[in-house]
Formats: sequence, structure tokens, C-alpha cells
Amino acid sequence: MITLTPLKFSRKLPLLLPLFGAIVLCLSVVPHVAFAAEGDVENGEAVYLKRCVGCHGIDGDGLGPGYDRLVPPPRDFTSGMFKIMSTAFDGYVPQDQDIYEMIRLGMPGTAMPGWADVLSEQDMWDLVAYLKMFPGYDEETPGPVVDYGEQVAISAESIEIGKTLFLEDDRCSECHGDEGKGDAIKRLLGDNGERTWPRNLTKPWTFLHSNDPKDVFTRISVGIPGTQMPSFADPASKLQLSIEERWHVANYVNSLAKTVEVVSAENTVVKSHRLDGEIADDPEDAAWQEATPTTFFLVPQLIAKTRHFTPSNDTITARSLYNDDEIAVLLKWDDRTLSLPGDEDAEKIADSSIYEDQVAIQLPVNPTKGAAKPYFVLGDKERPVSLWRWRSGTTTEPQSASVEIATGPQTPVEPSNQTVQANGRYESGTWTVLFRQKLNADHDSALTFAEGEFIPMAFAVWDGSNSETETKHTLTTWYWMLPESSSTALPFIGAILALLIVIGLEMLWLRAGARKREAEA
Ligand code: HEC
Ligand code: HEC
Repeated sequence: MITLTPLKFSRKLPLLLPLFGAIVLCLSVVPHVAFAAEGDVENGEAVYLKRCVGCHGIDGDGLGPGYDRLVPPPRDFTSGMFKIMSTAFDGYVPQDQDIYEMIRLGMPGTAMPGWADVLSEQDMWDLVAYLKMFPGYDEETPGPVVDYGEQVAISAESIEIGKTLFLEDDRCSECHGDEGKGDAIKRLLGDNGERTWPRNLTKPWTFLHSNDPKDVFTRISVGIPGTQMPSFADPASKLQLSIEERWHVANYVNSLAKTVEVVSAENTVVKSHRLDGEIADDPEDAAWQEATPTTFFLVPQLIAKTRHFTPSNDTITARSLYNDDEIAVLLKWDDRTLSLPGDEDAEKIADSSIYEDQVAIQLPVNPTKGAAKPYFVLGDKERPVSLWRWRSGTTTEPQSASVEIATGPQTPVEPSNQTVQANGRYESGTWTVLFRQKLNADHDSALTFAEGEFIPMAFAVWDGSNSETETKHTLTTWYWMLPESSSTALPFIGAILALLIVIGLEMLWLRAGARKREAEA
């Protein structure tokens, strides 16, 4: 048990005060440190007991009530390990500012929430002062911060150099993959033996901190303590990078962020574009490239047993095309692992058990009116759903597609008429699966895809290497699909036609008027 003596701070302050004036003039980070040093430990403890014990535990050991459900687990502050640190790699005591920023912003992709909207700045500084007492950091001075040298501005040239360094000797690609999607085949463990995954660098919303070049520079320079993300400023590293090189790599990492296939709150409808000709199988085909992508968040299934607490996939992107004959949906999602049961390498990377990767499109069996949609997890008795399901196959079985009818999360699914075709392709950490169904197919569903009619649609994804099978998977809530009219240009052309007719009539009327006047004259 740690004894907390708020006096420590006030005892130290008078000794430090003469130094402050001089340091404040030299270093811009110091005013924060000075502010933090004034942190009121007593208030920090009060706020901690109200807001933080649930996860971090009364003794700061990370053993709050929910600790065994969270991956990564809540931090054990007594260990003194902080992941997001700007103290140079050979130090282990974070700057007060580092702790403050983590409290303020939280750690995306983990259970650690940001507190900026809940707590005052002073409360957060008081928490910094309090937290530092768990590992005894109130008694230590952090080492110097990372040397940032002169920041290299983002430019095409810098990004290109960064890319070369990223790939050179497999420096970063060894773990993060050639395109940075975190798909390099490696089994990485954190210091406590917990499974960790190299970050998918194209998804900045999953970063513990941010993808701002300065933050990435700091991560490359310090590494992420407690994980296998190493320091590239460490002279002991064979792959060490100079300050300038680290700026180039940081600029490259920043450039990897997805810009098109990203979730946006307005996007709730998958627009199906109408084609006059054939729908191509190749996702690189021009019509597919022009089809509007709509990206949704995937959340772990927590309602039916077995619940899922450790998802690995977080978004899925849908595009759609249709013609007189069929409707097609192209799904794309990043998955770090190609899960191939029976494959030795795939089994090594996987958790205890490996299953096929899968994806499913969920549709109501009967047309819906207004809000009367089926239950979003596999429908219900009154309102069944059909699932178009694709499975990635094993070393002995090819990939496959099926249609199933479901009537609720607790009832087994029933096979239905096999009316869909699906074909999947895995490349550099991304699955692309194309579903197609004939419009006149003989299916058990009364649902039709009619122009201009909104159809509820939801998605589910399974990462077989992450032990995802049956009800253990990620999913979206209901969204919509809208088969659009033949050409979105039509209303526009219509308006122009109407305008031309009006102008034409006016001309006739003017001319008639003129003739009449001529005749009268
Ligand atoms: C819902 C659970 C939860 C609550 C509540 C919570 N945390 Fe956390 N916290 C976590 C988890 C999980 C981590 C570990 C994330 C990781 O290791 O990547 C963490 C990590 C941290 C870290 C480590 C930052 C670093 O750089 O490594 C700090 C500091 C922290 N929490 C402070 C707080 C404070 C202060 C509060 C209360 C105001 C709080 N947390 C409340 C779950 C929580
Ligand atoms: C040995 C494997 C390994 C190598 C090599 C590696 N990384 Fe990482 N990296 C990781 C792991 C693991 C994580 C996630 C750590 C965690 O669990 O939070 C990570 C996380 C990151 C993050 C996320 C930071 C954040 O805020 O969450 C960035 C950025 C990053 N790495 C960049 C790089 C760059 C650039 C290189 C090459 C200069 C590199 N990494 C080399 C394993 C590696």
C-alpha cells in the first residue's frame, strides 16, 4: 500500500523556486511542469476515487472491477510504465505534460476515455500529481525530452524519402506491412504477455495518440514502452534513424491516413448506381471505382452469447451497382490476418483457435414500412432476416457463399435458396468481397430491390484468426441501401429542357405580338 503525503510537493517547491525563473525563460514546456507541480494531490485523490478507480483500482494497480474484460487492461500505475511519452528513449519517467495529455484526450482504441469535457484543467493537473505518487515519480525528475531538431515540413519529396526508409531493411514494414496496414505476419506480445497488434497506420482514429507528424516523430524516437514498438533513436538499434530521417518517416506515416473509405456521420445510405451494361467482377473496373463508397463502424457483438470483447476489425466499406438483371454489393475491410484453417503459418499467428474469415449482408426478409425493422442482431420471430454470407475457405475447402434465414440471436439460422454468388480477394491486409444476386432469382425473401426505394441493410464481419466464429464477431446496426434512378443527371436535363421550352414559347409569343403590332400599324 502506498502512503500518500501531499506535503511532498509543498516541501519541494521552495527549493525549486529560485530555479524556475531561469528555466521558464529557456524552455517552453516548463510552465506546464511548474503548473503541474502545484497540482493538489488531495483533490487529485478525490477526483481519482470518483472517476478512475472503476478501472485503475483503489491502489492504482489496474485491478478495478472490469479489468479482466478490457484489452489492453487498465494501466497498473505502480509499474511506472507509460506508453505515450516524450521523454527520450533512455528515460522512463514521463513528462507531466505527457500524463496530462493522456488524461485529457484518452487513448483511442482502448477503454481509456478522454476527460476534457468532464474535468477542469486544474482537476486534470491534480490527477497528474496524484498518479505520479503510485510509482514514486513525485520523487524523480524526468529525463530530457526527445530532441526534435528542426521539423521537416510535409512535402511529396519528404514523404517519398520516408517511404523508402519505412521499407528499407523492412524497418517498419517488418511489423506494419508494406502498405502500413499492420498485416505483417508476426505474433507480438506486450510486456505482460497480452496479445498486441502492430497499428494499422492507415487508420489514425485507432492511434493511442495522434498521427500528427510531431506525435509520430515522438513515437518513433521513444517507441511505445510495454509493447514491441521500438525506438529508432536508440543507437543500439541496427535500424536507427537520424532526426531528419525520423521527420521524413513521420511525414510518410501521416500521408498513409485513409481519406476516402472513412466513417462520416452523414453517410447512412449505400447508394446503388444503375448501370446499363454488365457489372464487372473486377473491383478495379471503372464503374466500381465511380460507385460511391460508404463506410460504417463495426462494433463487437455484446448481446447474444458468446459475447465478444476483443474485436480486431473496426470498419467496413460498401459500394453497390445494379442493372436490369442483378444487384451487386462490393465490401471492403482491413483485416490484419488471412485466416486459413489448416495453414501452418496462419495457425501460428492466430489465437488459440482459427476459423475462416467471413462477412455477411443482412436484409429483412419482408419489405419494411417505416420504423418496423427487424431486430438488428439476426432479426426476430415476426420479422426474420436473410443473410448473404461469404466464407474465406480453408486449405482443403474453397471459399463459399450461402443464404440463410435468421429469426433472432438465440435461434439457429436456417439454410435458404442459394441465390447469391460471392467472390473474395485478400491483398496487403484488405479483404474485398463481391456479392451478386439476380433480381428474378427464386428466393425465400419477399424483398425486392426497386429503384428509389430504401432497403434496410446491415453488415457483420468475422476475423477467424481472432477466434471469431458464430455469435462472436463484429457488426453494424441497420443502415440503408438505395437503388438510384438511371441517371442522376436526369432531373438536371429535365430542368434545362423545361427552361428551353419556356424560352421557345416566350419567343413565339413575342414574335406573335410583334406581328400583331406590325399588322395593326
Ligand atoms: C473505462 C476504464 C477506464 C477509466 C474509467 C479510466 N481509465 Fe485510464 N486507462 C484505461 C486503460 C484500458 C488504459 C490502458 C491503455 C493502454 O495500455 O493502451 C488506461 C491508461 C491510462 C493512462 C496511461 C497513459 C499512458 O501514456 O500510458 C493514464 C495516465 C490514465 N489511464 C489515467 C486515467 C485517469 C486519471 C482516469 C480517471 C480520470 C482514468 N484513467 C480512467 C482505462 C480507464
Ligand atoms: C517489432 C515490430 C514493430 C516495428 C519494427 C515497428 N513497429 Fe510501430 N508499432 C508496433 C506495435 C506492436 C504497435 C502498437 C503498440 C500498442 O499496442 O499500442 C505499434 C504502433 C505504432 C504507431 C502508433 C502510435 C499510436 O499513437 O498509437 C506508429 C505511428 C508506429 N508504430 C510507427 C512505426 C514506424 C514509423 C516504424 C518504423 C520506423 C515502426 N512503427 C516499426 C510494432 C512495431
